[in-house]
Amino acid sequence: MDRIITAADSSAPSLCGAYEGKLKIGAAINTWHLEKDSTAYEVIRRHFNVFTLENQSKPEPVHPEEDRWVFAPVDRFAAFGEETGVTLRGHTLVWHSQCPGWFFRDGDGDASAELLLARMKEHITAMVSRYRGRIHTWDVVNEVLRDEGGLRESAWYRISGKEYIREAFRTAHAADPDARLIINDYNLESSDAKADTMAELVREMIADGIPVHGIGLQMHLGLDTDMERLKKNVRKLASIREIAPDFKLEVTELDMSCYRWGDEAEDIQWDEEKTARFTDKYTELFRFYLELAEEGVLDTVVFWGLHDGVSWLNGFPRKHKNYPLLIGRDFELKPAFFAVAALVEQ
Ligand code: G3I
Repeated sequence: MDRIITAADSSAPSLCGAYEGKLKIGAAINTWHLEKDSTAYEVIRRHFNVFTLENQSKPEPVHPEEDRWVFAPVDRFAAFGEETGVTLRGHTLVWHSQCPGWFFRDGDGDASAELLLARMKEHITAMVSRYRGRIHTWDVVNEVLRDEGGLRESAWYRISGKEYIREAFRTAHAADPDARLIINDYNLESSDAKADTMAELVREMIADGIPVHGIGLQMHLGLDTDMERLKKNVRKLASIREIAPDFKLEVTELDMSCYRWGDEAEDIQWDEEKTARFTDKYTELFRFYLELAEEGVLDTVVFWGLHDGVSWLNGFPRKHKNYPLLIGRDFELKPAFFAVAALVEQ
């Protein structure tokens, strides 16, 4: 049997090293992965050069009550960035989920649009100015579109209309004029309607001078993802560069589930056929990413998790085993890892 090579093994190629000068390669982590003599930390330092906190910088953990802030984990993350020189992404300032209820309440009723926007501005200003120059990129708003296209009818939208989106970008830009500001969403590659809404929304914002610098494509993919549709929709979003030459796309939450969405009843057994499909799909994907990088529109690809064992996909929508990343639960490197690295190795 072949010897299993793990991500901490010095004989393995470094993923971010292989992609140096082409794409930054990242992972979503939690601060407990930053213990210096752990395997997780070794893997973090060896294979990735851009990082997002999976949960700890969202409004709910950071700002649980109007006058209570919990900055310590994000401070730890920022210190890690300063110590190592890696790029840090801030996730996320405005979201309908993991946002504490107090934002939307005033006594027993709903907050007014004015109160909600004032709270939003205070939150964004506090976060972005505290980490100014240390968190380079912010997912300013997350998942503001409906699955079927159009704007999501969240509490943000119900109370303030679409103004909250524009105001969020203006506020973040005022707090750190050098930060890259991203609008982040899922299924942009698989839903034509969602990609159309995103393209239209962002084009309008740019035309009106709103400081939006890029679109974050979460890319929670599946073994069944239609690659032709993915490429077509990504190209549609990349074409925004016609009106804003510096506009970027980032891949912000990449993974590839073996379950079809809505069809997770049976536990799936991983087998050779799946390994082959998984490897082929990741290879085709990174070939496409390299094309986009060459054109200057994509410079960052972040995986949503460090290895299969800590992926959110093991618990959603029910508990089951999933295998969505290039690094397995025991830090073993999958054939897909070597195939993706080989695309750029000499
Ligand atoms: O921290 C509590 C813990 O105290 C409690 O005992 C436990 C019981 O369920 O829950 C823990 O919180 C969980 C949290 O993750 C931290 O582990 C929440 O229940 C759980 O809902 C939460 O899930 C996160 C999810 O966002 C929330 O919607 C996932 O870890 C995180 O990967 C996921 O990330 C999102 C991105 O932010 C946006 N795009 C989609 C992506 C995947 O859903």
